[in-house]
Parts: sequence; structure tokens; C-alpha cells
Amino acid sequence: MSLPNRVRIVEVGPRDGLQNEQAPLGTAQKIRLIDDLAAAGLTDIEVGAFVSPKWVPQMADSAAVLAGINRRAGVRYPVLVPNLQGFEAALAAGAREIAIFAAASETFSQKNTNCSVAESLKRFEPVVARARAAGIPVRGYLSCVLGCPYEGAVDPARVAALAAALISLGCNEISLGDTIGVGTPLAARRLVETVAARVPMSQIAAHFHDTYGQALANLHAVLELGIAVIDASVAGLGGCPYAPGASGNVATEDVVYMLHGMGIETGIDLDALAQAGWCALDHMGRAPDARVSRALRHKHLKQPPK
Ligand code: HMG
Ligand code: MG
Repeated sequence: MSLPNRVRIVEVGPRDGLQNEQAPLGTAQKIRLIDDLAAAGLTDIEVGAFVSPKWVPQMADSAAVLAGINRRAGVRYPVLVPNLQGFEAALAAGAREIAIFAAASETFSQKNTNCSVAESLKRFEPVVARARAAGIPVRGYLSCVLGCPYEGAVDPARVAALAAALISLGCNEISLGDTIGVGTPLAARRLVETVAARVPMSQIAAHFHDTYGQALANLHAVLELGIAVIDASVAGLGGCPYAPGASGNVATEDVVYMLHGMGIETGIDLDALAQAGWCALDHMGRAPDARVSRALRHKHLKQPPK
């Protein structure tokens, strides 16, 4: 067992979370949320997506969000892009880091991006080439790595081959997405071991949704293998528009609480993080339902700050 001393959290709430919220935040509230997250110590915040607004209307204001945030030194603000058109728009809006996304299942690829897996990799070739020429780091997501809502089981060897293909394309990091949160610890461990045979562990991130309440257990299992980059969403916001029934990413507060309890550093102020989430939830008219966020809120309400 070799637990990392420090974990880098990639906060995906403003993108992955908000892309699937039915009561979306306005642009000003999104900007406030992102600035609050950076103030809480998050160093990687995915702030939007330059995808088709017909497919995901919640991300249509991503250029305005990028323009409005107060960029802090040392904080990265990546955005998701699906094709060259999205890349050009992201670049024009001032993005300095991007993420591309492919799937380990054919049906999900069609539903999410209207093309086959092979076509999506082909589509990303010029995007990554242009990004690299512009000095822009590219993260590569793979969806459905532990199961697909349409096809069921997914072969870890297929995920590993696709992860290697994304690295060959020029991605600097591969984020393994359990899009529908169906994974369990031994499956997560087997997956990461299989992928790590093709891609260095230091370039693999875990992106686990919490649909079946397994995300923290799965994260613990892969932390023991040496995973040190974890994606999470403040207050557990979100889901996926093309994965019916999927709930949000694992909540950032839950991950930070677990890591700090294990003596693993994140650089994040848990209290400030929780407050950032409550402020966004208040605007959405929702109470926190992620565990740590809810517990801390209860404590705060009982002992209001002087
Ligand atoms: P398409 O309809 O096949 O695209 O969609 P097209 O190239 O045929 O163009 C059709 C129209 O879309 C045109 O407009 C284009 O201009 C426009 P029209 O002439 O009809 O007015 N268009 C765009 N507009 C804005 N920005 C763009 C863009 N591209 C085309 N970039 C496409 C193909 C990929 C664009 C579409 O399927 C799409 O946007 N999909 C994105 C879906 C999405 O955002 N899903 C959620 C993110 S992935 C995720 O959440 C998983 C992850 O979290 C990891 C995990 O959990 O597993 C990352
Ligand atoms: Mg996701």
C-alpha cells in the first residue's frame, strides 16, 4: 500500500455538475462559485464547456464565465471542447487549458457526441495538435470506464487501449470516468492496474460519479495504487445528460474530508469549500444533500460564526 502524501483535486462542479442541473445557475453566480472555489484553495477548476448549446444549454455562457472570473495566479481553469469549432471558441474566450472527451462504449459515444469512438479520436487529432502548438495542455477524459448505461460491462483492456491512444494523441493526463457510478472497489482497482500497464500512474486521474454510493470506497482502492489526481464536484452537483439516472460526481467536500482524515494534503480549506457550495445551492433553491456538506451545514447553523 503506497498512499500519496498529497492529492490534486480537479474541481469539475462548474462544468460536470452544472451541465446537468435542471435549475441552472446564472452567469454571475457561476463566476462567484468559481472565485469562491479558488479562494478555498482549489488549483484546478473546470469552468465550462464549448459544446453545442443545442446539446447542453447549461454551458452556453462559458465564454462569459471565462471573461468574468478573477483569475488567480497558480490556478488552472480548463474547459471542455468536443471539436475544432469548440477549441477555436475556447481559445477566443481566453482558455489556457482544455479537456477533450471520448468514451469506452460505442453507444455512449454516439449519444454524447454523435459519432463513433474511432471518429471521435479522429476529430480530436487536429484539436490536440492545435492546442499543443499554442502551448495549451490537454486533458483526455474517457467515459463509461466501469460500465455503460446502454451496453453494460466494459472491458478494462479496451479502456487501457483508448487511454494509450489519447496519450499518443498528445494528452498529458487521462481522467477515467465512471460516468454512471456503477463501479465497486475491486473493479476500480483492476481497471487502474490495467490502464497503468499502458499509461504512467502519474498521468491517470479518477473521475468517479457517486450514483450507487461507491465513489469514496473506489477512490480509496485506487489511492492505494498510487492515484494522486481526483476529480470531484462541490456539493456533489450534477450528473450526465447522456447517462439517464446518473447522479453527480463524488462531492469534493466528501473527498477532502476523507483525504485530510487520512493525513493526505490537498491545500483546500474544507470550511471555505463547503461555504462556496452552500452559496451556489442557495441560489438554486436547494439544500445540500452530499454528506459532509450537509453535516457541516448543520454544525454551522447550530453554531453561527461570531
Ligand atoms: P453534431 O450535431 O453532430 O455537430 O454534434 P455538427 O458538427 O453536425 O454541427 C451541428 C450544429 O452544432 C451546427 O450548428 C454547429 O455549428 C453546432 P447549426 O449549423 O445547426 O446552427 N456546433 C457547435 N456549436 C457550438 N460549439 C461547438 C459546436 N460544434 C458544433 N463546439 C457535438 C456534435 C460534438 C458538437 C455535440 O454532440 C456536442 O456538443 N456534444 C457534447 C455533449 C456534452 O457536452 N456532454 C457532456 C460532457 S461529457 C461528460 O460529461 C463526461 C465526463 O464528465 C467524464 C465522465 O463522467 O465520464 C467528461
Ligand atoms: Mg463526469
